[in-house]
Amino acid sequence: MADLPKRKLGRTGLEVTVLGFGAMELRGPGQWRGRPLAPGQAQQVLNTVLDAGINFIDSSIDYGESEENIGRYISHRRSEYLLASKCGCLVDRSSAPPGEPFQHVFTRKNISDGVDQSLKRMRTDHLDLVQFHGSPSKQVLEQEGAIQTLLDLKREGKVRFIGASSTLPDLVDHIRMGVFDAFQIPYSALQREHEAAITQASKAGAGTIIRGGVARGVPGQGQGSEDVWNLWDRARLRDLLDDMTQMEFMLRFTISHPDLSTTIVGTLNPAHLKENLAAVRKGPLPTPVYNEAKRRLAAVGAVPASTI
Ligand SMILES: NC(=O)c1ccc[n+]([C@@H]2O[C@H](COP(=O)([O-])OP(=O)(O)OC[C@H]3O[C@@H](n4cnc5c(N)ncnc54)[C@H](OP(=O)(O)O)[C@@H]3O)[C@@H](O)[C@H]2O)c1
Repeated sequence: MADLPKRKLGRTGLEVTVLGFGAMELRGPGQWRGRPLAPGQAQQVLNTVLDAGINFIDSSIDYGESEENIGRYISHRRSEYLLASKCGCLVDRSSAPPGEPFQHVFTRKNISDGVDQSLKRMRTDHLDLVQFHGSPSKQVLEQEGAIQTLLDLKREGKVRFIGASSTLPDLVDHIRMGVFDAFQIPYSALQREHEAAITQASKAGAGTIIRGGVARGVPGQGQGSEDVWNLWDRARLRDLLDDMTQMEFMLRFTISHPDLSTTIVGTLNPAHLKENLAAVRKGPLPTPVYNEAKRRLAAVGAVPASTI
C-alpha cells in the first residue's frame, strides 16, 4: 500500500504523516471519564498505528496511563515515530481525585521534572516536541521564565523542538512571541473558530498540529457531543456526502485546510483507525465540495474567529 501522505511540520523541517495519533484515548478510566482498556488493547492500538505508517504521536503527563503505555508497548520501535508530549502539567498527579480540574504550573522545576518524568515513562532519551499544556498566557510564561527553561532542555538534548497547545486569544500572542516551532490547535468543520489562526501560525513558520479533527465522532457512534454536532444538520452538510461517511467527510474537511501539518485523531477502535487511514489516503475534499461546505457553515454563522 502507498505510504501515507506527509507534510512539513513548519520550521522543524520534520516530515509528519497528515494523520497523526492522539494518545489521550489510552488514558484509562482514572482520568476524565477515560474508558477502560481491555488487556492487550493499548499494545494492539499503538502497534497498529505504527504498522499503518503513522509517524507522529501526541501524549501528555495529564493523560493517565497514556505515556506509560507508549513506553511499555512501542519504545522498542522508537525510530519509527516522532514523539510529542506536554509540559506544565503537575508531575505525578496520581494523588489528585479523578475529575478534579487539571492545574498547570509553569515553574522551571515543574517543567523540568515533568519532562524528565515523560522521558522515563515513555522510555526514551528525547521528546521530538514538548508543548506547553493549557494555553498559558504570555504573561504567565514570561513571569515564570518558562521559555528559557524549554530552551535549556533543548540545549541539553532532552527536547528537539518547542511548542504550545494554544487557543485564542493566547494563540495570537504565542505566534507573535516567535519562539515556538509548532502549535497544537483545535479545529474541525464543526469548530471553525481557529481556521484563520492556523494560517497565521503557519505563515509565521510554525508547524500546525490539529486536535479535534473529527469532532470526537458522531454522537451515539463516537464520543462527540450533540452541542457540537447539531451544526452538522443546521448547515445541511449531509447533502454533500455523495458516497462518503460523515467521518470521512469530517476528516477530509480537516485535512483540506492548506496550512495544517497533521491531525492527531485519537481512537481505541481498529475499525475506526482503518476508516480514518482510508479517508486520509483519499486526500482533501474536492474543491467545489470544500467551498460549498464552508459556504453552508458560514450561512448558519459558523465562521473563523478574527485574529486581528
Ligand atoms: N489541550 C490539549 O492539548 C488537548 C486537548 C484535547 C485533546 N488533545 C490531543 O488531541 C487528540 C485528539 O483530540 P480529541 O480526542 O479531542 O479529538 P478527536 O480526535 O476529534 O476525537 C477522538 C474521538 O473520536 C472517535 N473517533 C475517531 N475516529 C472515529 C471514527 N472513524 N468513527 C467514529 N469515531 C471516531 C474516537 O472514539 P473511538 O475510540 O470510539 O474510535 C475518539 O473518542 C487527543 O488524543 C490528544 O492527544 C490535546
